[in-house]
Amino acid sequence: MNSVIIFKSNTGHTEQCANMLADELGCKAIPLNQISKVELNTYERIFFGGCVHASKVAGLNTFIKHLSKDAHKQVVVFAVGANSSSEQNTQDLIKSNTSLTERDIPFFYLQGGFDPDKLNFALRMMLQGVAKSLRKKQETNPDELTEKDREFLNFFQEKNNHVDVKNLAELMSYIEK
Ligand SMILES: Cc1cc2nc3c(=O)[nH]c(=O)nc-3n(C[C@H](O)[C@H](O)[C@H](O)COP(=O)(O)O)c2cc1C
Repeated sequence: MNSVIIFKSNTGHTEQCANMLADELGCKAIPLNQISKVELNTYERIFFGGCVHASKVAGLNTFIKHLSKDAHKQVVVFAVGANSSSEQNTQDLIKSNTSLTERDIPFFYLQGGFDPDKLNFALRMMLQGVAKSLRKKQETNPDELTEKDREFLNFFQEKNNHVDVKNLAELMSYIEK
């Protein structure tokens, strides 16, 4: 099937996932800021991959605005974030990104990575804010800190990269069906 991958990445991990998927499918991966140069209607299957910020898939709504109402196109979205992959995490993200359910878009989650040297000022500040409020919760109400909160805090302790072609297995088996 004639496919294209559009992605929104800030520190490179979503781009890495998009390129890996592009290699698997033999198609192109194109950054979201170049979407107006892409003839989306010429593709039978369109993927969108976005990094997760504050539970939102970055760029998802911009991507959706560019889609025509052509119901015959297959659209698949994947998100790349800090938490490890689990059914609960996937369901939480679906709940926080209502356009996925409104359009009934298949959704997949991949764990990304953390590269502090590549964070821009705005994201660094945003991350400091989130980490500060979680740490405060840890000190004042440790019982309220969920396993996911703990995992999130740990993830940002040091540079890491969990991107692996093996993590594409679920998405690949979905599209091969
Ligand atoms: C400010 C900020 C907020 C984030 N919020 C979340 C989040 O809510 N959930 C999550 O799973 N990951 C979150 N992350 C982690 C990123 O999604 C993760 O580092 C991802 O690999 C970044 O992708 P990129 O390298 O393509 O930009 C956040 C990262 C930053 C910097």
